Amino acid sequence: MRYRRKGKFPVSQTICERNLRGRVAWLRKELNRHAHAYHTLDAPLIPDAEYDRLFRELQRIEERYPALLVSDSPTHRVGGGLLSRFEPVRHAIPMRSLQNALSPAEVEAFDRRIAESLAVSEGVYSAELKFDGLAVSLRYEDGNLIRAATRGDGLAGEDVTANIRAIRGIPPYLPDMPVPSVLEVRGEVLMFKADFVRLNEQQRREGLKEFSNPRNAAAGSLRQKDARITAKRALHFFAYSVALAEGLALPPTQSDTLGCLKGLGIPVCDRHRVVRGVSGMMGFFQDVQAEREQLPYEIDGVVYKVDAFQEQDKLGFLSRVPRFAVAHKFAPQEALTKVLGIDVQVGRTGVLTPVARLQAIFVGGVTVTNATLHNEDEIRRKDVWIGDTVIVRRAGDVIPEILASVSERRPKDARPFVMPQECPVCGAPVAREEDGIAVRCSGGWMRCAAQKKSGLQHFVSRKAMDVEGLGEQLIEQLVDKGVINNVSDLYRLDMDGWCSLARMAEKSARNIMEALQRSRQTTLARFLYALGIRHVGESTAHTLADYFGTLTAIAGATAAQLCEVTDVGPVVAASVRAFWDNPDNVRLVEALKSGGITWEERAGARQDDAVLPLSGRVFVLTGTLESMTREDAAERIQRMGGRVSGVVSARTTDVVAGQNAGSKLRKAEQLGIAILGESDFLQLTHHDQN
Ligand code: IVH
Repeated sequence: MRYRRKGKFPVSQTICERNLRGRVAWLRKELNRHAHAYHTLDAPLIPDAEYDRLFRELQRIEERYPALLVSDSPTHRVGGGLLSRFEPVRHAIPMRSLQNALSPAEVEAFDRRIAESLAVSEGVYSAELKFDGLAVSLRYEDGNLIRAATRGDGLAGEDVTANIRAIRGIPPYLPDMPVPSVLEVRGEVLMFKADFVRLNEQQRREGLKEFSNPRNAAAGSLRQKDARITAKRALHFFAYSVALAEGLALPPTQSDTLGCLKGLGIPVCDRHRVVRGVSGMMGFFQDVQAEREQLPYEIDGVVYKVDAFQEQDKLGFLSRVPRFAVAHKFAPQEALTKVLGIDVQVGRTGVLTPVARLQAIFVGGVTVTNATLHNEDEIRRKDVWIGDTVIVRRAGDVIPEILASVSERRPKDARPFVMPQECPVCGAPVAREEDGIAVRCSGGWMRCAAQKKSGLQHFVSRKAMDVEGLGEQLIEQLVDKGVINNVSDLYRLDMDGWCSLARMAEKSARNIMEALQRSRQTTLARFLYALGIRHVGESTAHTLADYFGTLTAIAGATAAQLCEVTDVGPVVAASVRAFWDNPDNVRLVEALKSGGITWEERAGARQDDAVLPLSGRVFVLTGTLESMTREDAAERIQRMGGRVSGVVSARTTDVVAGQNAGSKLRKAEQLGIAILGESDFLQLTHHDQN
């Protein structure tokens, strides 16, 4: 099945009715097919946002042409069909869905409708998280959990009682206190993000199919015929409403009911609050959106429910959704787009990286036009061909990625990607790395312009030689025009040379020359890092500089001697050795030195890290420090023998937390790692600063 057209279907008078009928039939068929894949098979074929788009299109047409409405339209139903594995359960009260608001304007319209219907100036709402899991209904009779069911088609679901009993957080019976004789609680079963990653790692190890997201993993784990498998999967439950309570009155508001459920030992998420009107709703939405990435589970928006049940009853229901509640969804983080081509980029160390050129798509708040595909293996795993429709995801500040291709939308003229045998920039043959995955250009920085340019960029970058004002475009020009051939030529270029470049004013040229002059006086660690030796990052450069003290000592060290240094293993040692064994590199370093680059050497240093005050400690810096930049703080730590890492892990010994420290601080607290404030840090590193 191919989609007939992309983009919004124009509902206009010009479309003749036959076309419209065809479109409606097609939309219904598609929506049914996708609802089945999502709800029944736990294996969606398209992103939620795409489903919502089709759904809204059908809804709009039906609103406008009521003659086309049929009672079993997907717009009137909830969820998919039932899987025959489980016994059907008829819900005492239907499990409905929610109307969506996708913009502030739609939230405003919702509040206006509520206020008008209730004859008040603004609504009072219980604002809650919209959990991205699967809905279940739990029935307690006389305090005992007797039945649990999935939503199914909204009227009848599947009996998953045994599986629900296997979820640790759900109480099999209520505490010994007055409780309703019948209590039906509705809520969401979720898998936390960390557990999802762990489960998929295990599935991969065992050669089993991976789940596409935590929601499908939760659904797949709950709907196991063998509840012992469910028990092994870490599932959570959050209650969000009471559908039925007999024999004992519950509080008169939604917010207090949540508190009451919590009092009964039923898990309720604490992140809910009572808000008033549009400003209250938008405030909650923005707060939650800012926290979203840090939450341990996935949410796809927030829900506002009129808080007083009396008012809810007045408002009542539309066919499939309550009038008194709305789901305010986040901008979709996944969207469909087309792969226009797959380009190959050559990195600093010559690695060839395929990058997908995409039809521009707005996703996760930005327009995305390309996404790295990392390597050939990745392309094969995700089955991405040129011409394919793919699912693109962009969450938070994370770079956009292609999740998978939609195989059923592959056009006839799609082509698979083939890794070139020659470097697309310099034409040198490529060779596969020992890991069997990466492919590298054999031209080296001397022959390959791509490597030369990125090597230059790295050399002048802030953490390396820190030459201000020398951007990517200037470097392109310098190399393409043949003005320079390597980094040492930068220091030989005179005023005329700089001024010969396009769009280069005399003042900028002078600034660059001054910046180059300043960079001549550097440190051994910076210089070593600037050389761009494979596997020698900032931290390793510091370690090597501290240990050996001079460049000559490093260049002369054998692989075995290099391996004596803490954190230097055989791979790094071999790479350092290979660098110095290449005469091109030795000549380049000599040229740089004769170009005036100097640093302080510590002859005969060979200092083992163990004698330095911060040896063996691994620091993570987070938040903003008042008295210095993060780079300065890192340099202090490294100078004193400590290591600096970007991620908090079990190996981290100290976390330095500045202003507005975020998730790293929380993780450190969870792991019980020592946390230093700015003043603690200054005190710790003080004696090194004279
Ligand atoms: S209330 C009568 N509250 O969203 C409507 N639903 O699109 C009852 N959901 O089927 C739903 N978080 O699976 C409600 N805090 C929340 C929710 C929530 C997630 C799900 C639920 C529902 C779907 C509607």
